[in-house]
Amino acid sequence: MSDIAVIGLGAMGTALAEAFLNKGHAVTVWNRSPAKSEALVVKGAIVAASVEEAVRSSPLIVACLLVYDTVHEVIDPAREALSGRTFVNLTNGTPEQARAMSVWATKYGAHYIDGGIMAVPPMIGGQHALTLYSGPRQAFDAHSGRLDALGTSRYLGEDAGLAPLYDISLLAGMYGLFAGVLQALALTGAAGIPAGEFMPLLMSWLQAMQGGLPKWAEQVDSGVHTSNVVSNLGMQVDAYVNLVDASRAAEVSTELVLPMQSLMKRGVAAGRTDADLSSLVALLQLSNQGN
Ligand SMILES: NC(=O)c1ccc[n+]([C@@H]2O[C@H](COP(=O)([O-])OP(=O)(O)OC[C@H]3O[C@@H](n4cnc5c(N)ncnc54)[C@H](OP(=O)(O)O)[C@@H]3O)[C@@H](O)[C@H]2O)c1
Repeated sequence: MSDIAVIGLGAMGTALAEAFLNKGHAVTVWNRSPAKSEALVVKGAIVAASVEEAVRSSPLIVACLLVYDTVHEVIDPAREALSGRTFVNLTNGTPEQARAMSVWATKYGAHYIDGGIMAVPPMIGGQHALTLYSGPRQAFDAHSGRLDALGTSRYLGEDAGLAPLYDISLLAGMYGLFAGVLQALALTGAAGIPAGEFMPLLMSWLQAMQGGLPKWAEQVDSGVHTSNVVSNLGMQVDAYVNLVDASRAAEVSTELVLPMQSLMKRGVAAGRTDADLSSLVALLQLSNQGN
């Protein structure tokens, strides 16, 4: 018997298995392409001959595969072996996929925990590697000591969909940031300014802008977006035209910046000229258009 079975040894699964081994856990591994387990064997991992053998090896099964369809494809043949075990699925997916997987795994007697990894493989095992979990609290508590080998664990609640909801929402913030950085580098780069020269300014500007986000949270929670406004939507929508025009003049694509402009204009049309940008959150919630 092992402590943990890791199913899927891509870049992330390999990092997970290594982190468990580094903490002294007995680890059984399985991957479609067996060659990927060789380096882990040197570090003490046991290779299972089949997925079912991997599942039967341990009370805790950690799967990290490409997409949920892959998880089904891989785990389905071993579903009867899941009974009584805790199945932690760290594959990226949607809240709906996680809830459906929870129903499926629970039907076969597993304690299903969904997870979202907020880290890249080299970070795994370090304290900055955050993993989000949701599912039955008792099962999480029973294994949190082992799961902490991956870095920092955060339990979000019983609903299996919570971990992927937080995961994709954090990714939404990240991609929004990246989109802005791409535009900034395209604009400055088109003017011959080296990215290395501009980046420190951009980084400190983004850090300064983060300071206003706690106020946004208060405003979104209270629904009041008009107190102590220092950069109202009306002013910002007029200034934003310059960002679009300057991009066009520099022959830089506007594909990343136009959707934001469209939302800001919708905010003005909805009478939010004097409000903070946080008032646009409700406009994105299509079921909330009356507000
Ligand atoms: N890498 C990151 O930075 C990162 C960060 C956070 C979350 N994640 C998430 O972690 C998960 C794994 O990512 P990764 O970076 O490890 O991906 P990866 O390196 O591409 O590995 C994919 C894994 O899925 C397996 N796989 C794919 N199709 C399969 C199939 N039809 N049947 C059986 N196995 C199959 C691969 O097996 P083979 O080795 O046989 O191809 C491999 O084990 C993804 O959901 C990803 O979104 C990744």
